[in-house]
Amino acid sequence: MYCMDLTGKVAIVTGGAQGIGKAIVDAFLECGASVAVADREVKQENSHEHLVYFKTDVTKRNEVEETVQQVTKHFGTVDILVNNAGISRMDYAIDIKEEDWDLVMDVNAKGVYLFSQAVARILKEQGQGGKIINISSQAGKNGYRLMGGYVASKHAVLGLTKTMAIELAQDGINVNAVCPGIVETDMKHKERVLGGELRGLTAELIKQEDYSQVPLGRTAEPQDIANVVVFLASKYSDYMTGQGINVTGGMTMH
Ligand SMILES: NC(=O)c1ccc[n+]([C@@H]2O[C@H](COP(=O)([O-])OP(=O)(O)OC[C@H]3O[C@@H](n4cnc5c(N)ncnc54)[C@H](O)[C@@H]3O)[C@@H](O)[C@H]2O)c1
Repeated sequence: MYCMDLTGKVAIVTGGAQGIGKAIVDAFLECGASVAVADREVKQENSHEHLVYFKTDVTKRNEVEETVQQVTKHFGTVDILVNNAGISRMDYAIDIKEEDWDLVMDVNAKGVYLFSQAVARILKEQGQGGKIINISSQAGKNGYRLMGGYVASKHAVLGLTKTMAIELAQDGINVNAVCPGIVETDMKHKERVLGGELRGLTAELIKQEDYSQVPLGRTAEPQDIANVVVFLASKYSDYMTGQGINVTGGMTMH
């Protein structure tokens, strides 16, 4: 049970249909917020009176702008944006295919730029501040084998976070990033299978390798990340901006 109150706040969560995004949506609803999920895959029915789904591809400017318009029409306002949608592709840097590089950069970096721009314009106009929270990664701070495009895209997210934090500070808009470590989601499970194939290891062995690297002795559940996102969406983080907060069980400390 959360004690951080988001009653009356309206949040957009990209990639909120599953994984970390879904945990963020559930946490926001529990804290009293209304939530719009913007995801390219929308399988759910609107199951909660404060929850709406918009089928949106974050790489398409027209879809992003239309969704942001629909959200403000539906809820009357928007206060919080969580840029969570993301994908990964795996290969050694010297072998990455151009189409994979472009796709990863489009979803993970361009998607954050498009959604942040569309929402920040409205937040500025409304004049009541707001919160933008970008889900980067510890791959936004370190290099990782087989993850060249992904690592580049997550460094880009932190760069945009810092710049927008400075540019929007005078409007009372906080822009921060969360840098998760290893989180048990579909994305992570697929990475273990593909990474295993490329390295000649089983997914199970890679899972054990993952565990051995975390000082706190376990990988993260989506809820671990959502806990910190709720804090960054709340008034308790009003004096923080331009930060990339590690939620890694101690794996990354800078
Ligand atoms: N799982 C991890 O270990 C981990 C670690 C660090 C950071 N992250 C980041 O957390 C975020 C969520 O990852 P996850 O593990 O929950 O992944 P996931 O694959 O379980 O979920 C990703 C969601 O994003 C949506 N999505 C993908 N492309 C989209 C697009 N073009 N437009 C709209 N929606 C799109 C998918 O439909 C899905 O619902 C990503 O940005 C990821 O890079 C994950």
